[in-house]
Amino acid sequence: MRKPAPISGFSKLSKEAKIEWILQNHASEPESALNMLTGYWHSQTEVQRLHDEFIENTVSNFYLPFGVAPNFLIDGKIFTLPLAIEESSVVAAAAKAANFWLERGGFNTEIIGMTKIGHVHFIWQGKEFDFLQNAFVNHKQRLFDATEEITRNMRQRGGGILDISLIDKSDLEEDYFQLQVKFDTRDSMGANFINSCLESIAKEWAQIVGELRAEHPVQIVMSILSNYTPECRVKAEVSCKISDINEGSGIGNQEFAEKFVRAIRIAKAEPYRAVTHNKGIMNGIDAIIIATGNDFRATEASAHAYAAKDGSYSSLTHAEINGDEFKFWIDLPLSIGTVGGITSLHPMVKFAHELLGYPSASDLMRIVAVAGLAQNFSAVRSLITSGIQKGHMKMHLLNILNQLEATDEEKKEIVEYFKDKVVSFSAAVEIFSKVRGVSLGAISSAKH
Ligand code: MEV
Repeated sequence: MRKPAPISGFSKLSKEAKIEWILQNHASEPESALNMLTGYWHSQTEVQRLHDEFIENTVSNFYLPFGVAPNFLIDGKIFTLPLAIEESSVVAAAAKAANFWLERGGFNTEIIGMTKIGHVHFIWQGKEFDFLQNAFVNHKQRLFDATEEITRNMRQRGGGILDISLIDKSDLEEDYFQLQVKFDTRDSMGANFINSCLESIAKEWAQIVGELRAEHPVQIVMSILSNYTPECRVKAEVSCKISDINEGSGIGNQEFAEKFVRAIRIAKAEPYRAVTHNKGIMNGIDAIIIATGNDFRATEASAHAYAAKDGSYSSLTHAEINGDEFKFWIDLPLSIGTVGGITSLHPMVKFAHELLGYPSASDLMRIVAVAGLAQNFSAVRSLITSGIQKGHMKMHLLNILNQLEATDEEKKEIVEYFKDKVVSFSAAVEIFSKVRGVSLGAISSAKH
């Protein structure tokens, strides 16, 4: 292997030449690296071409397991959720929560808003805000007109620009102002649409101010959507009588409900816990966001900003006991789409939408919020009863055995052995050494 050196014009190379360069510069075993990279190519060339063209410099594909969790009763309708995720216990936890709530009335949801937002960030050194305000009010229509072409299709679908406002932000940065634009992007996430509108509005705005006050031109800093969408938000909820909780761990219903609500209170008040708590919520949310071809980075960023909206990072879920009723809910911003992006291109994404019955964007928001709530319910339920490791390690056992390169026979025997025992890495290694008939030392030196 040569010492890696910089390369210019890499993106212009053919896929084969890119791989050749990688093998020569970055692979200790070029032949097996080549087999691995090409082994993950899709057998249908047209599907592989799609993947190649999603991003720059595609050399192979990266697989994630695609699992499903059936029996989600959401607003009276049954769904099977598609989940793309590598973490062993997430799909099992989702399915368990679905079954639990199926028998207790299911999940109910509410769309709180569908408004998305973007900004033209600009600097204006004219100092008189009144002048800027008048210019904006008198010429606002020109800003709408500047997007006429871009918004035509969206308007035909019932969406478009909802409002434009001028905001003085000079308390944050000298001479800093914004045009804040609100959008309805219907069933698309709308990032490209929003950014195109903003860039046209920015150009027109600079033109307007230039015409009125040539000595103080507007300097456009940037025009970009905000992934923080508190007005594009959804709530999902479950509730049941405390006497119906009957969740099977052996602690009483009342104790379970109280312990659960306390665990949520801790996650609300204590950022260290809140981060892990919300991470568990995102286990469910990201998995369905990825499976449905949506942008998990945008979803994550928005959710965490919302979790910190009151000045301290807090839980995205809430729980309360009202008399003899237990109620548990999530409220979070979600800006996602069911058209556009890769939703009609990626074959697995297309299938995920079919599995869900081709939901609208707002329907998918409901389903995604439920995935997060369900995941959190399972996690907190385990945490306050058996502890998380029992279920988690059981699901992780096959990963450990695969790491040890156990045969199918050995796996079967070891899985059977752990049926009534708690799994740990060391216990798995120990029983593996016995089953295989080798010393523990031989295993750890082979594995490290
Ligand atoms: C693990 O991926 C997620 C949990 O840690 C979430 C939680 O603690 O609530 C189990």
